[in-house]
Amino acid sequence: MKLLLSCFEWTAPILANELKILGYKPFDNFSTWMYVQWNEKDIWTLNLNSRIANKIFCEVGNSTINNFDQLFDFAYGIDWEKYVAKWHKVKVDANIFNSTIDSKKYTQSIVNKAILKKLVWDGRQRFSDPKFRPVNILVQIIENKCTIWVNTSGDSLHNRWYRVWTGDAPLKENLAASLIRLCNWHYKTPLLDPMCGSGTICIEAAMIARNIAPGLNRNFAFESFADFDKEEFENMKKELKSKIFQWNYEIVWQDINPKMIEIAEMNAKSAWVADTIKFECKDLFKTKQRNGFIVTNPPYGKRLRNYNLDGLYEKLIDMYKWNLGCFITSYENADKMVWYDFKIKNLNNNGEAVKVYLKK
Ligand SMILES: C[S@@+](CC[C@H](N)C(=O)[O-])C[C@H]1O[C@@H](n2cnc3c(N)ncnc32)[C@H](O)[C@@H]1O
Repeated sequence: MKLLLSCFEWTAPILANELKILGYKPFDNFSTWMYVQWNEKDIWTLNLNSRIANKIFCEVGNSTINNFDQLFDFAYGIDWEKYVAKWHKVKVDANIFNSTIDSKKYTQSIVNKAILKKLVWDGRQRFSDPKFRPVNILVQIIENKCTIWVNTSGDSLHNRWYRVWTGDAPLKENLAASLIRLCNWHYKTPLLDPMCGSGTICIEAAMIARNIAPGLNRNFAFESFADFDKEEFENMKKELKSKIFQWNYEIVWQDINPKMIEIAEMNAKSAWVADTIKFECKDLFKTKQRNGFIVTNPPYGKRLRNYNLDGLYEKLIDMYKWNLGCFITSYENADKMVWYDFKIKNLNNNGEAVKVYLKK
């Protein structure tokens, strides 16, 4: 059986590399997902440790399907009680490529019916509780080969649950971790986020440096699976906690807005890294970072039209003469301003064109 790991565009090679470091062999890498083979505890290991993936799905069955009757029988044959607790609803998504069955809506509805019928006919009355998020099922039909997957993560893994509060445009935690990985920051070199907002980039950097597993602070969908062993899972978390270490890192964040520094500090405390980061309330124009890494997510967007954004980006880009690192933004003028060696990576984030500018 396989696990499917989904991710953002441009982060797929970073995720593949992370999987290799964790001891897996990713295969069939697409732009936004890849697979690994799995054994019993891999669902726990990967959900707890992946800094880059969005969600992790486990395969619960596969079969060749030519019509909706076959689809119903196949879906009905899966042992749903393992994955869907009495109090859960189900939400079915479908992806279909090049197959005889071509209606996404009907596929979703047939699989949904098969699951509910199976669970009721087995003699259990279901009282789905709206307090719980539905179990996410994914049906993939590629050239008549149907695979059904169950989301083991629940909430997307970018959600580490340490952010107590955020500013206007918080960066997703797994994108922040991807930026740190992308620029190959090594922990003994100074790292600065001069426009830190709610602090996500430095918090992720500190967690990477200190070997803090990103999933230690949250719950996962697999904790509701029938065969979930809470005691063993707690042991795995204890072991991961015992591998956290501390060193004298030079991770600094700054923001011009004192309120944002306060928020960032609260978030860092809840991520257990407040003692690893130096906080400064400072204007970018007064900053002189030399010979380190700058990783940041500058302000952008229509609301800031009256603000001197060009001046701010000029100053930031100038700082990369003496620093490595990258910045992420959807500011359209940035392309014209990167006048020396930057690699540009495109990311389509829900229809918004976001780019990463990586100092070569
Ligand atoms: C897009 S937000 C950063 C979001 C952040 N990555 C996060 O995850 O929350 C940009 C930040 O730049 C800060 N900023 C704007 N102009 C600045 C300046 N001249 N110097 C320092 N910080 C500035 C803003 O206060 C804002 O918090």
